[in-house]
Amino acid sequence: MSQKKIFLILIAVSTVSLLLHHGGHLNLTLESFWLGCPSSTASSTTLGRSGPSAKHTSVAFLKTHKTASSTVQNILLRFAERNNLTVALPITTCDHQFCYPRPFSAHFVHPHTTPPDIITNHLRFSRTELRRLMPNNTIYITILREPGAMFESLFTYFNHHCLSFKRVPNGSLETFLEHPWSYYRPEEKDSMYARNTLTFDLGGDKDRPASEALAYAKRFAAEMERVFSLVMISEYFDESLVLLRRLLSWDLNDVLYVSLNMRTADSKSSLSSKSIAKIRAWNAVDSVLYDYFNASLWRQLRALGLACVEREVQLLRQSRDRLVRSCFGGHLPPLRSAAHITNNQLRPWQPSSKVEIVGYDLPVNMTQKGHVPPRDECLKMIMPEVQYTRLLLHSESLRYRKRFPLRSSQLTSRGVGHTRAHKESLAPSLNPQPSETMARSTKGSLRLSQ
Ligand SMILES: *[C@@H]1O[C@H](CO)[C@@H](O)[C@H](O)[C@H]1NC(C)=O
Ligand SMILES: *[C@@H]1O[C@H](CO)[C@@H](O)[C@H](O)[C@H]1NC(C)=O
Ligand SMILES: *[C@@H]1O[C@H](CO)[C@@H](O)[C@H](O)[C@H]1NC(C)=O
Ligand SMILES: *[C@@H]1O[C@H](CO)[C@@H](O)[C@H](O)[C@H]1NC(C)=O
Ligand SMILES: *[C@@H]1O[C@H](CO)[C@@H](O)[C@H](O)[C@H]1NC(C)=O
Ligand SMILES: *[C@@H]1O[C@H](CO)[C@@H](O)[C@H](O)[C@H]1NC(C)=O
Repeated sequence: MSQKKIFLILIAVSTVSLLLHHGGHLNLTLESFWLGCPSSTASSTTLGRSGPSAKHTSVAFLKTHKTASSTVQNILLRFAERNNLTVALPITTCDHQFCYPRPFSAHFVHPHTTPPDIITNHLRFSRTELRRLMPNNTIYITILREPGAMFESLFTYFNHHCLSFKRVPNGSLETFLEHPWSYYRPEEKDSMYARNTLTFDLGGDKDRPASEALAYAKRFAAEMERVFSLVMISEYFDESLVLLRRLLSWDLNDVLYVSLNMRTADSKSSLSSKSIAKIRAWNAVDSVLYDYFNASLWRQLRALGLACVEREVQLLRQSRDRLVRSCFGGHLPPLRSAAHITNNQLRPWQPSSKVEIVGYDLPVNMTQKGHVPPRDECLKMIMPEVQYTRLLLHSESLRYRKRFPLRSSQLTSRGVGHTRAHKESLAPSLNPQPSETMARSTKGSLRLSQ
């Protein structure tokens, strides 16, 4: 790299950090100038916003399973809070998902969280129902992951929940892949975790007969492309964020994140190319979808200019490191397996003791004297979705009651989504809660991602 280039990048970085530190909003045009990227305003004029630099605030993110979607969700939730937006949240009987795997219905949305700007909790996609619920300028986004890695992740994560996996002797993925039909029952509960999970989440047919699967998958991919303005790809997460940020006209500091809901390295297993081929054959529709949207992502990245994308990815990582330093003094809090995290607000849900999900723990003494406790925005960045959803429902309900005192008392007397159990669940705090609370609230259907 020439000295001149390095110099320009240095200037860009220091300018951006100056702007960030002063809390000013990055001016897209100015930023594009420094990044040497084409201006993104031209592509967004069709969205009907008030001005070229207004941030887009109506977003439907279809949260898929085991795809890094919890991290995207966390970005969206924090954006919503910062901008006083309303996030559609599930009624309590739906748990923290919108009654997944049932197809989404607007009836699953808690009345205190309407009309929404953003929706991001797990749901099975239904275009019609979402259109009924969301503003008509809503931008639809989702994320896909390479089918081999994704299926391995599903197999491990849901090993003790999904009957199709439970039947496999010794919990061996190879054994399952030898004769999937010996273990898989299409109509069974939780079967959607065992075949074409992405297709299912998108509202498609996971069990198309092999003879039609290919044609169906192509049709389905084209249909999804008309609905979703951006399909992110987990393998190119930061690159996908560059596109997301431009699509929504958001600032760089709106998309900073730390990875959430990961497994420890030793609960992942590496796959042979033979296994990957079998996984792709078994999940044929998902595989077509993935290849289709991965190609589409790279077409968009090339159109933007790969050098520009690369520079923005670097900027994103530097800004994130800076935020983490300012939040936690130096580096991220230690990653611990969920079972060892003392702060319940930060403990991710674990599907079984055999899968080590890791989360971030704050050492107790970090919140004691002599240490500035991490700011709220910092805690939220490492907060798992179940706890974050509960906090948001609480604050949105308060806001709703303030805004519509009469309407909310009517709702209460009619009992719409507002049962006694629901009231109990609306008592969150940042203090550690007894672990039974956690255990009770996580029973039932499955949750979380990656
Ligand atoms: C840049 O931002 C400033 C205010 O922050 C605004 O007045 C100006 O119009 C913006 N420039 C462009 C070209 O959008
Ligand atoms: C959000 O609401 C709070 C309290 O009503 C207000 O102080 C703040 O300025 C609002 N922020 C935005 C971005 O609208
Ligand atoms: C969006 O909805 C508003 C009112 O809700 C309506 O006036 C407008 O025409 C709609 N726009 C489109 C493109 O349907
Ligand atoms: C299961 O594992 C045991 C011990 O590792 C082995 O002896 C047995 O053959 C395995 N069963 C199958 C069906 O692979
Ligand atoms: C995604 O597409 C790019 C560009 O075509 C290709 O280089 C890459 O190998 C693909 N990634 C995967 C995981 O298939
Ligand atoms: C916080 O507590 C841990 C373990 O209890 C200890 O190792 C560490 O030194 C303490 N840190 C500070 C700053 O007191």
